[in-house]
Amino acid sequence: MDVYEAVTTRRSVRGFIDKEVPRDVIERVLTAAAWAPSGSNIQPWNIYVVTGSPLAELKKRAVGRVADGVLWDDREYVMYPPAMKSPYRDRREAFGNERYSALGIAREDWEARQRAAIANWDCFGAPAALFCYIDRDLGVAQWADLGMYLQSVMLLLRAEGLHSCPQMAWSQVHNTVAEVLSPPSELMLFCGMSIGYEDAAVEYVRTGRAPLGETVTFIGDQGARP
Ligand SMILES: Cc1cc2nc3c(=O)[nH]c(=O)nc-3n(C[C@H](O)[C@H](O)[C@H](O)COP(=O)(O)O)c2cc1C
Repeated sequence: MDVYEAVTTRRSVRGFIDKEVPRDVIERVLTAAAWAPSGSNIQPWNIYVVTGSPLAELKKRAVGRVADGVLWDDREYVMYPPAMKSPYRDRREAFGNERYSALGIAREDWEARQRAAIANWDCFGAPAALFCYIDRDLGVAQWADLGMYLQSVMLLLRAEGLHSCPQMAWSQVHNTVAEVLSPPSELMLFCGMSIGYEDAAVEYVRTGRAPLGETVTFIGDQGARP
């Protein structure tokens, strides 16, 4: 699989089959992903890979907690600014509409949306997950390093025939995650990622992207179109 194919076939998969992901495949992917760039090569990612009974236990605790309506843990970072301006707000709304209409859920049906969201904490059925932590002392540039690392992981998973879903939803229950993973207190959970083989029976709507001209500005005439 070439890089273009890996990039264009990666998507957030929200339905996995119950087929084990071999440990050596995950190790191969994470060994290669470690070649991701980071400012001054500080490699600020701290990754926990969770499978088997610890993952089953974590899913049970998280799903149970959310289903029982136990409040979110205190937010450790701002997921989205409270008043997001255009075009970000519009794109977010469009995503929400697409996602919930694909599930046959009306936008105003809060309960149904919550039920759908609960699948996050079951890893959408995936048999493997990773959790990405960052040292609390690090700053925004290091958070960007995490993004580059995580995208590398997701592309390499594609090369192995696997799919993934990055999930900030896990940060909403970071204390529950910590109960199972016992990370050192200086680490903060950025996100989880479900990993596995796609369940082709689960329907989905492919997300769109803004046209190039909306997000990219070319300056200079080198390579200009005739
Ligand atoms: C940092 C990050 C956190 C995300 N958190 C969640 C999440 O908690 N639950 C979820 O279902 N999708 C989550 N997503 C997936 C996004 O919704 C998805 O990437 C976006 O809609 C684009 O769709 P695509 O990944 O299928 O191309 C997250 C993506 C990123 C990059």
